[in-house]
Amino acid sequence: MQRAVIEHIARYEGQEVLLRAWLVNRRSKGKIHFLILRDGTGFLQATVFKGEVDEETFERADHLPQETALEVRGLVKADARAPGGYEIAVRGLRVIHTPTEEYPITPKEHGIEFLMDRRHLWLRHRRPWAVLRIRDEIERAIHDFLHERGFIRFDAPILTPNAVEGTTDLFEVELFDGDKAYLSQSGQLYAEAGALAFGRVYTFGPTFRAERSKTRRHLLEFWMVEPEVAFMTHEENMQLQEDLVSYLVGRVLENRRTELEVLGRDVSRLEPAANGNYPRITYTEAVQLLEEVAKEDPDLEPIPWGEDFGAPHEAAISRRFDRPVIVEKYPAAVKAFYMEPDDADPRLVKNNDMLAPEGYGEIIGGSERIHDPELLRRKIREHNLPESVFDWYMDLRRFGSVPHAGFGIGLERTVAWICGLQHVREAVPFARMYTRMRP
Ligand code: 4AD
Ligand code: MG
Repeated sequence: MQRAVIEHIARYEGQEVLLRAWLVNRRSKGKIHFLILRDGTGFLQATVFKGEVDEETFERADHLPQETALEVRGLVKADARAPGGYEIAVRGLRVIHTPTEEYPITPKEHGIEFLMDRRHLWLRHRRPWAVLRIRDEIERAIHDFLHERGFIRFDAPILTPNAVEGTTDLFEVELFDGDKAYLSQSGQLYAEAGALAFGRVYTFGPTFRAERSKTRRHLLEFWMVEPEVAFMTHEENMQLQEDLVSYLVGRVLENRRTELEVLGRDVSRLEPAANGNYPRITYTEAVQLLEEVAKEDPDLEPIPWGEDFGAPHEAAISRRFDRPVIVEKYPAAVKAFYMEPDDADPRLVKNNDMLAPEGYGEIIGGSERIHDPELLRRKIREHNLPESVFDWYMDLRRFGSVPHAGFGIGLERTVAWICGLQHVREAVPFARMYTRMRP
């Protein structure tokens, strides 16, 4: 007997196979029971006809509780009426485990907090199934794209003495004898060491920010991919970001159609993002654009030149475009210490954010890095950062320093946008937030 998985069920049409699965739901129509099964790779309807199985099996099929673990033997049939186009006509059933209590997540609607409290079980359901398979596709696509372009993966430490992205949202960790370290906010500084050693590297790992914000875009722990390239300019950096994001969207559209359908994602709103040609505007143009938008939208407060955008501003900018928009050259004063000043206007830096459309906002932050040792030292001082812990980082400017650039793309925000989610908490298996540390 062949063992089949639901994802590839079409290959077994007309054959009898063995499935190992769980019961999602069932209903009966007299002489026929419909069982909805899941095996991790997909969902499939099984039919149990009276007369096609023995009496005892037929009877038992009508009483199986939700989440019963089963071994199902049956014939694979194409059937246009079945969800997915295939079903399995059951010939035999073996119960591997009967739930010891009533399963809490019933087919009726549940509130989000109820579901998040039971995330360890909710993972089994269609929506998380679709989202996390898309996340997996995106992760693999990132590795494929970057390796194709000659990058090597370069893992940065999680425990670190350095603050990269400001000192306000650091998680402090007690070390030995009263010493302290932080959980990494970004692998960038280490990626820079990697770029000067290997040319093109990327980090891919969890990063941490102690942000007391309850927004739909903030996690305490999120995954970030940070490519860093020696000799790369600001222009090339933006192009690399556009190429990467176009590729990621293309891969999901190609390989994860079923999952996008489960989520009810309108793919016509994603398609432009797979085609590149991302508009580029400057920070200054974005501020002007917001003034225009604010004239029509009384809820939007425009910002004075020199201030950073908040979530409503990014959302408003991103809604003006049908694909991600790149906003470049922000005022140095609102950005991190390591960004290279603009040649034409030293109040600005050679940086950019990428804002995802439909109001999603920032998914990428990147910049060219300061490579001049004196300028970098001055910036570290101006930002009141402790010089001693950056001594190793200064070495990168003392020996063979070259212009270099890179960026960080937040995985959960990217997944949330591509999946069309309301909140990043669904874009990761177990969300860690200001308001949630369980399960
Ligand atoms: O813009 P950020 O702070 O940039 C950096 O960390 C740079 N060191 C990256 C680099 O140049 N190597 O963060 C990068 C991205 C954001 O655009 C966003 O997608 C994500 O990380 N991000 C978060 N995602 C979820 N929850 C949070 N609290 C996040 N903070 C940042
Ligand atoms: Mg940012």
